This record gives sequence, C-alpha cells and structure tokens, in this order.
Amino acid sequence: MTTTEQCSKLVKEVYASFDASHDFEHIQRVLATARAIAETEPTANEKIIELAVLLHDVSDAKYATSKDIEATILAQLLLSDDEQQQVKETIAAVSYRGGYELEATTIEMKIVRDADRLDALGAIGIARAFIFGGAHGSLIYNDDEEMHTYESEEAYRAKDSAVVTHFHEKLLKLKDLMTTAYGKKLASQRHKFMVQFLQQLSAEREGKI
Ligand code: ADP
Ligand code: NI
Repeated sequence: MTTTEQCSKLVKEVYASFDASHDFEHIQRVLATARAIAETEPTANEKIIELAVLLHDVSDAKYATSKDIEATILAQLLLSDDEQQQVKETIAAVSYRGGYELEATTIEMKIVRDADRLDALGAIGIARAFIFGGAHGSLIYNDDEEMHTYESEEAYRAKDSAVVTHFHEKLLKLKDLMTTAYGKKLASQRHKFMVQFLQQLSAEREGKI
C-alpha cells in the first residue's frame, strides 16, 4: 500500500461522521481537481498535494473532532520530517482556521487551495451550500440579512445564515482568489453558472419564469 492509500483509508473513517458538505466525496473531488491542476504545473509534488488534500478537513473545528486528529494520522504515515512539515504547512495555507488566512507561497499550497475552493463553486458548490444550510437550519434566502451587520465572520457563520447570503458574502468572491491559471479558468466557468442560478432563483420568486 502506498502512503497515499494508507492515508486515504485512515481519513475515510473520520469524514464518515461529517455532513455531505464535507464528506469523503468532497475529498475525492478535490483530489481529482488538484491532480488536474497539477498536470498543468510541472514542478508540483503530487505526493504532498495528495496527502494535504486527504487531511485538509479532518481537524475542521466545525465538526468538533479532536484537534489532534491531523497530527495523529500524520504520525502513522511513513514520511520524512521534511515531507511531514510540507504537508502540515500546505494544510495550514488552505484553511481559514483561527480567522485569518496564510499566504499560499508554494505551488502545492496554491493547487490544494484552488482545488478546495473550486469545490465550493459551480453545480457542486450550489449543492454543497444547500446541504450545509439544511444541516444548520438555514433559510434559502433572507432579504434583510447582510454579513456587515455581524461582528465577525465567525458570528455570521454561527447564526446559520441564509444560503443565498452565503453566495454573496463568500462564494461569488472566490473566482478572484484563484492563484493557478487552470484554477482561474474553471472558477470563471463555475462562477457564471452560479450567477445564472441566482438570476433564475430571483425570477422564479417573482413568478416571472
Ligand atoms: P472549507 O471547509 O473548504 O474551508 P467552508 O467550511 O467555508 O470551507 O465551506 C465548505 C462548504 O460549506 C462550502 O461549499 C460552503 O459553501 C458551505 N458553507 C459554509 N458556510 C456556509 C453557510 N453559512 N451557508 C451555506 N453554505 C455554507
Ligand atoms: Ni475542504
């Protein structure tokens, strides 16, 4: 068994308890996208990318698993200190943990971050947002609600905000945050599809189509 396969087996059990917005299917889609981006970036280290993708959400605070789960799994894999460090740093650059974002300085960080964000866009992005909203008791839309009325992104998230608000406050901004050329291309297509979805939703609310 390769290190990636071993890691895959271990993380699968962890993601089994997460809702469908962050399950193992999310990880498999991010892996496929990250591999597709990596093919266009010849210097990228695929092993680091794959391990970082597999582990990037296991310690997500939203799912209240043990904070050490990422470290526990990493310690079980046969990696050099240098590889372990690179995987950790790549994961840290992907998540918003702690309320701030680190800069993606290596090509591996850029690829994993773009691939994770791409999974919040397009048809899958729409499906994930509504499944997340459903799991948190959110509304479909709330015309009165805007994030700037909240003290912080955490406070806004904690409120189980309406899903359409989440599109405006976060998802529609992601295309401009892509760092790889291939990521930018996919994000632009997926963005257009979401804008079209929101226009259709508004028109349907008014019985226009
Ligand atoms: P990540 O776990 O990749 O860092 P998030 O936890 O912000 O990113 O989002 C993961 C998925 O959950 C995305 O598809 C996102 O749209 C969805 N999501 C997160 N917060 C909300 C929300 N308040 N309403 C609807 N969907 C949300
Ligand atoms: Ni993710």
